[in-house]
Amino acid sequence: MFEHLATVVPDPILGLMAAFRADPEMRKVDLGVGVYRDGQGNTPVLESVRAAESALIARQTTKSYVGPAGNPGFNQSMEQLVLGAAHPALAAGRVRSVQTPGGCGALRLGAELIRAARPDTVVHVSTPTWANHTPLLAGSGLRLERYPYFDPATGGVQFEAMTAALERLPAGAVVLLHASCHNPTGADLSQSQWRELLALVRRRELMPFIDMAYQGLGEGTDADAFGLRLFCAELPEVLCAVSCSKNFGLYRERTGSLHLISSSTGAADAALSQLVRIARGIWSMPPDHGAAIVQAILADEDLRTRWASEVEAMRRRIEELRLELLQQLRRHCPQRDFGFIARQRGIFSFFGIDTAQVHALRERHHIYMTDDSRMNIAGLRRENLEYFVRAVAEVLSG
Ligand code: LMR
Repeated sequence: MFEHLATVVPDPILGLMAAFRADPEMRKVDLGVGVYRDGQGNTPVLESVRAAESALIARQTTKSYVGPAGNPGFNQSMEQLVLGAAHPALAAGRVRSVQTPGGCGALRLGAELIRAARPDTVVHVSTPTWANHTPLLAGSGLRLERYPYFDPATGGVQFEAMTAALERLPAGAVVLLHASCHNPTGADLSQSQWRELLALVRRRELMPFIDMAYQGLGEGTDADAFGLRLFCAELPEVLCAVSCSKNFGLYRERTGSLHLISSSTGAADAALSQLVRIARGIWSMPPDHGAAIVQAILADEDLRTRWASEVEAMRRRIEELRLELLQQLRRHCPQRDFGFIARQRGIFSFFGIDTAQVHALRERHHIYMTDDSRMNIAGLRRENLEYFVRAVAEVLSG
């Protein structure tokens, strides 16, 4: 059965993680995989998570199944966190939610629902997009196409080219959008661009599928959800895939949610029954622990306040690192404009160097970023920032 199978080249992000781990050099710098790191280079368990977790373990009475849609309390808390408690779609009863194994599970579940509803649907993703969007979405059998998004000349969004491409799509086409902290570029839509996009999506009858993996790490918990909330309030149907990996630091607990906004409560109930059927056929029922932690935090005023200040601290550290990095780059590489670093949001930046330069950083300086020059800003620290910038200057000078 299996002897003819060829060895698969690792996914670019996972391959880089393995290469970094195998490098014995002490000075090595990991700007690869997208995890938040603190000033000591650690990805800590948040204090609010630790407190919620200890209380949970002490009072847990069973390990019995949670059910295919997951923990109802978690789903409800996530709806309120993602959409805002007073959101009109919630008041109208148009939202249905399913707990998923991470944001990845939500993306796949959403894709499977689209495939069940309209198998010929094409999903349009940004150029570039997160490397794992392709296998997660196309793995459901849907076809993927690309629309222009990142402008290497400015480090921002090519909004005119993006909207011109979306204008040409047929009704019913799915457009995958990043709510904030675009992965891999860090280039986000402004509020006025979200509004313009809303008019286009409505006019062309497109179906938005919004991926929100970094709520709170860009400009703040509400600001990062601006476009998502606007679309969910104004459009009949939206799918939102949400991850708790980054903002709750729950990476390995695989905690996420899929939220479906439907045109009516009846359509929402029918779609939820389909989601439950699909989930049952893939992972049956989601893992409990991460979602139980999130629910405990969001339901308790004190824990929620502690969590919010921890997310804010992460966000500020990323913002400060961006400014420090820019200052150092201006000092050591004055010939090049890196101003985009301060304008981009979240942990990623498309650094704008070519693959040979990325490889030179890796081979000569043990600095790891993906070949497309996506760097995880949070991988920098006071202690290695100057080392990184000097290495960049050396590589840029040939
Ligand atoms: C990343 O983009 O590096 C993270 O979202 C981790 C992953 O699974 O790729």
